[in-house]
Amino acid sequence: MPEKAFTDGLARAMSLENSELARNTPSLNYSGYQHGQFWDMRKDDLEGQSSDVISNKEEMHGDLNIILAKINQDKNYQAAFKKIYHSQKTEVWQLQNVLASYIRSLAKFNSGFDEYMRGNKSAMTENQKLGFNLFVGKAQCAICHFVPLFNGTVPPNFKKTEQEILGVAVNAENRTFDNDLGRGKFHETVPSLQHSFKTPTLRNIHKTAPYMHNGGYKTLKEVMNFYNKGGGKAFGFKVENQTLSDAPLQLTNKEIENIIEFMKALNDQ
Ligand code: HEC
Repeated sequence: MPEKAFTDGLARAMSLENSELARNTPSLNYSGYQHGQFWDMRKDDLEGQSSDVISNKEEMHGDLNIILAKINQDKNYQAAFKKIYHSQKTEVWQLQNVLASYIRSLAKFNSGFDEYMRGNKSAMTENQKLGFNLFVGKAQCAICHFVPLFNGTVPPNFKKTEQEILGVAVNAENRTFDNDLGRGKFHETVPSLQHSFKTPTLRNIHKTAPYMHNGGYKTLKEVMNFYNKGGGKAFGFKVENQTLSDAPLQLTNKEIENIIEFMKALNDQ
């Protein structure tokens, strides 16, 4: 749903047979700016992302070759592809590439934050500015959600995207640890990747509730409470290698409100 930054508003996505999938649908906006797709980063780029979802039995249960055959029967499509790739016949990689190119275009950089950085001093409110200063200061958010993409893609070279271990719970009661191995599922012998997840962008975050890889947190206030206490370890979970500091942030309610208010400045127009 474009108005929800291309998420679905559900805690976890529904399969074709209407059963719940394992994870929350991530936003497509700015996903071209991360080296690692899906919460567990199992594909390096958007070309791999589309083929994974299209062939996944629970998601689209399709076949790129069948789609390609249809495209090759359509003169308009054929002409359009030829114009881009100059080849006689359309090939599967071209189909993946046009889909990925569309997704890459979903990054407008026209939020209040961007406008402010371009010099429009009225594009952010006073509270949003206070919130930004907390975000990069006392609240330590920018240690992982790097400015200016607010995801795990590391400046200044933007050549890699990081995953982190927070110790997220099944829901905001923070009583039960979520056992999802995340990236660890593909690297069983690497302790530092168990239960790790891609650091997602916070751009448009006000439009994409519920939150976290499991959609277990309904509001940004619930997310802030989790961080303020010190993540999973602080709730008594045995989280090996938690990369989030478990020291309480000691943010006041007003400070939390300002950080949430700042994140509104990350909504695209
Ligand atoms: C140690 C790295 C780290 C720090 C520090 C950190 N985050 Fe995160 N953040 C992540 C990761 C990784 C996720 C995804 C976790 C998951 O779903 O299991 C995440 C998820 C989120 C989400 C939910 C995103 C979504 O699409 O559902 C929000 C909101 C968020 N962080 C805001 C913040 C704020 C605000 C701060 C500062 C108070 C902060 N983060 C500090 C790494 C970090």
